[in-house]
Amino acid sequence: MAEKSTKSKSTAKKDTAKKDTAKKDTAKKSGKAAKKAEGPITSPLSAEERDITGGVLQDTLVDLIDLHLVAKQAHWNVVGRFFRDVHLQLDELVTSARGYADDVAERAVTIGVSPDGRAATVAKGSDVPEFEPDWHNDQEVVEAIVTALHEVIAGLRKRIDETDKTDLVTQDLLIAIAADLEKAHWMWQAQLA
Ligand SMILES: [Fe+2]
Repeated sequence: MAEKSTKSKSTAKKDTAKKDTAKKDTAKKSGKAAKKAEGPITSPLSAEERDITGGVLQDTLVDLIDLHLVAKQAHWNVVGRFFRDVHLQLDELVTSARGYADDVAERAVTIGVSPDGRAATVAKGSDVPEFEPDWHNDQEVVEAIVTALHEVIAGLRKRIDETDKTDLVTQDLLIAIAADLEKAHWMWQAQLA
């Protein structure tokens, strides 16, 4: 009898050990799954801060890509007395908007968020007003660019507030972009006076 009870005790021990191993395996597997769901790049931010900041960067990215596309479209289609000045000034805007889009996308990656700069995403999400096809005289182009810059800057200022509690490094980047685009906004506006 005593032998049987010892045997059953050892079987029970083995069963418990097996269960523990199974539990550990499940935990390992779910740990891996969780890591996969989090993505390959770790974030210096908490999950909540990362998600809010990632959304802010994504919204900024689509605006900047669209701004660069609109400026290029205008660069090709502008005509009129001040063609040359406007044509050249538009390419300066293309260069800065493209550069900032890259900075913003790479900040998203740095905090563990995958940026989405696909044409369909930009078309759906951009706050930049649509730029009509065909030729435009220089005055119309300047007005369209002033409006486009106004919208992009309004979005940036809103997002500077949003990042105040989530990520000051991203906020710093957005402030630098806003400062430069606000200066550009002045220079375009000055041509309408
Ligand atoms: Fe060109």
